[in-house]
Order: sequence, then structure tokens, then C-alpha cells
Amino acid sequence: MRGAVAIPGDKSISHRYALLGALASGTTSVAHLAPGADVAATLACLRGLGVPIEETGPGAIRIGGVGRRAFSAPTAPLDAANSGTTMRLLSGILAGCPFRTTLVGDPSLSRRPMRRVIDPLSAMGATITSQDGRAPLTIEGGQLSPVTWRSPVASAQVKSAILLAALATEGTTTVIEPMATRDHSERAFPVFGLRSETSTDPAVTGGGSQATAVSVTGRQQAVAPTGTLHVPGDPSTAAVWAAAAAALPGSSVELTGVCLNPHRLGFIRALERMGAIVEIEEQSQSGGEPVGTIRVSHGAHRATVIDAAEVPSLIDELPVLAARAAMGGGLEVSGAGELRVKESDRITALVSGFQALGVAASERPDGFVIEGVRTPRGGTADAAGDHRLVMAFTLVGIGASGPTEVTDAGAVAVSYPDFARDLARLTE
Ligand code: S3P
Repeated sequence: MRGAVAIPGDKSISHRYALLGALASGTTSVAHLAPGADVAATLACLRGLGVPIEETGPGAIRIGGVGRRAFSAPTAPLDAANSGTTMRLLSGILAGCPFRTTLVGDPSLSRRPMRRVIDPLSAMGATITSQDGRAPLTIEGGQLSPVTWRSPVASAQVKSAILLAALATEGTTTVIEPMATRDHSERAFPVFGLRSETSTDPAVTGGGSQATAVSVTGRQQAVAPTGTLHVPGDPSTAAVWAAAAAALPGSSVELTGVCLNPHRLGFIRALERMGAIVEIEEQSQSGGEPVGTIRVSHGAHRATVIDAAEVPSLIDELPVLAARAAMGGGLEVSGAGELRVKESDRITALVSGFQALGVAASERPDGFVIEGVRTPRGGTADAAGDHRLVMAFTLVGIGASGPTEVTDAGAVAVSYPDFARDLARLTE
């Protein structure tokens, strides 16, 4: 695997710019938006709330900010499709809107836990009904009160939903997470003229060496930034090619325009421990995010361990890290029970797909073990409609001795519609 890839826009940041742009006064221009179906779902939901969004070019949009008070009650349920970020973050905004909205999702999203946002938003004053803690959600928003919320799960989606709801309150809301998660919302806030405060002081967090508290005071009006916001490249996409190059001897890739937010770069540290040679060059700042180039080459095959403390910094990259380990070395993951409630049960689906490709893989309740002791044989693996598994199984297929077929693979379009094109370029 050799060559360079200009990494497409980050999914997490794209959702946040779209939502904040809708809340802001003025017009927000965004370029290099994440290309997949997830961000398209956020845009469709915002349009359903009466927010004018114009496509001004490939990956470029102009959002006519109307502010929460000018959102109109949708005439039909809003469809978050496969996107957990859309459903959870939008719930935070709708909690403060004085009308009723129903949010629906595809079968995968309809299985995922929503109590983690229903509970805090209900504590703030919203009325939310669900199917036993799952979508469809019907949200009756209105006047909200601030809250201090100690989230049992380390989740940037939960944190962001509460922070967005906090903007509609009078007073200060604090979210305490057991471990720091990606801070894209906190970095995007000042871009839209909003303030938040982050603390790791045990007097504020109530203890726990990794606990983090984020506070937002309400009644702040978001303001559209001047100029165009350029979304930096998605580290989760960069991780696919980084893992492939690390796994395959003789490989070397250059990944450009990547968001270098430290909360997203756990995969780099894990790949280095597994033997990769990595060079990172920070070149600029965009919307409060560091951006630069990552170069990765194969160095050696070594086994490594990932435990709970590291999981939030590489949660979405665990499938491709597993693929890297399957081609030599090995990987033992624990403290990653959250994988069971992603777009699929990513522990069971990953392990059964790997076994089908001849990899020695086994499940743990909160993780998995991959033994990189032999060359995968190849075969047919079912991606269970999960975009990250499509890519992980494809990487194993490249390293396998025989041919591989990945089924239910259309889901790759959720985050990386050009995956097959970029793969072909790198393996030419
Ligand atoms: C995301 C946060 C993570 C991540 C998801 C996107 C976000 O989920 O897995 O793909 O944009 O905030 P959780 O924060 O729920 O773990």
C-alpha cells in the first residue's frame, strides 16, 4: 500500500458546524463537509425544522441561521437514519424548542440506547417518550432549567447534547464525564461566539483521575462566523489507511489535512506500539482544531494491549486496529463494552467476521482478543450494515492469502463513500 490520500472532512465536526450554524444568527458557510450519509441526515433534519441550507458546491453548504426560537415544528418525523450523533445532539437542541418532534432512525439506530440523553434532558425539563429507551423518540421541548449531570458513560454525544440544551436555560449547566471524550463541541463553541469552561479539578469533577467537567451558561446567542469554516480531515478515516500501511510490509502512506485533535489520535499510539513508524506534522489550525499530515509505514509486528483508559481516544478505530493486529502481532482489548451499542454489536460482529476470514479472534464481555499468529485465509464476512466493519474486513481481505468477500457492505457510505476508490489508488 503506497501513496497519498487527502482525507475527507471529519464527521463529528461536520455535525457540530451544521447544528451550531442553524442555531446562530447570520449565515454560516462550511466547506469540506464530511461526505457520508450521517451528515446528510443531520442536514435533512435541520431542513425539516425550517432551516434553509443551500449546497454551494461539492461538500460546501451555506446555512441560513434562524436560531432555536425560529425553528418550525416539523410536519413529519425527522429521520436520523444510521446516525447516533444526529439523534443525540439534535435531541439536545429540540429539548429547548417549544413544540413536539419525533425522531426516527433505521433499524440499527432504533436498537441503540437513548436513555443516556433522555435522562439528562428530562431532568432539565423536556418531556421525552421512547420505545423502552430507544427510538422513535418524541420530544416535547420548552423552558429548560440548568443541571449538573454526572454521566455514567464517557460519551461525547451525551456531553454535547447536554451542552446544546444548556444554551436554552437560564443559569449554568455542568456535565461531568468519567473520562475525557472528544472535545469538538467545546472547540466549536468559540467559533460561534459561545463560551464553555472545562475543568479537571477534583473539587469540580468530584474525583476520578480522568474525570472532566464542562460548564455552559445559558442565554448565549450563537453568531455565524465570518468567512468559510473548513472542516479538517477525519482521523477515523485516516486511521483506515494508517492501519493498513502499518500491517503490510513495504507499505507507506501519507495522509493529508487530518484533524490532529489529541482526543482522536489514540490509534497512532496503538499503531506505534504494534511496530508502525509514524511521523506527524502539524501545519495549521482550523476552527480551533490542529490540522496536519500523518505519515505511516510498516515497521514491525508486535502485540499490544488496549484498556479502558485509552478507549475514548480510539473507540471508532478499534475495528481497523483489530485488522492491523490480525496481520501480525496481536491485540487484546478490554474496557470497550460501548462497542456493543455502536452501529452493530461491534464485538460479536467483528469477532465472527474475523473468524470467517480465518483470523484467531475471540470475544470478551467488554472487548476482544486477536491473535496475529497466522496469515488470514480470506472468505466471506458479514459487515452487519456497519461502515467501520466494512473497512476492517476489507483490510483483513487485503492481507489474506485467498480472496475475500464482504457482504452488507453498502454501509461504507455512512462515513466514507469513496473508500473503494481510494483503496484502488493506494494499491495500484
Ligand atoms: C461521536 C462520539 C462517539 C463516536 C461517534 C461520534 C461524536 O460516540 O463513537 O462515532 O460525534 O460525538 P460516543 O461519544 O457516544 O461514544
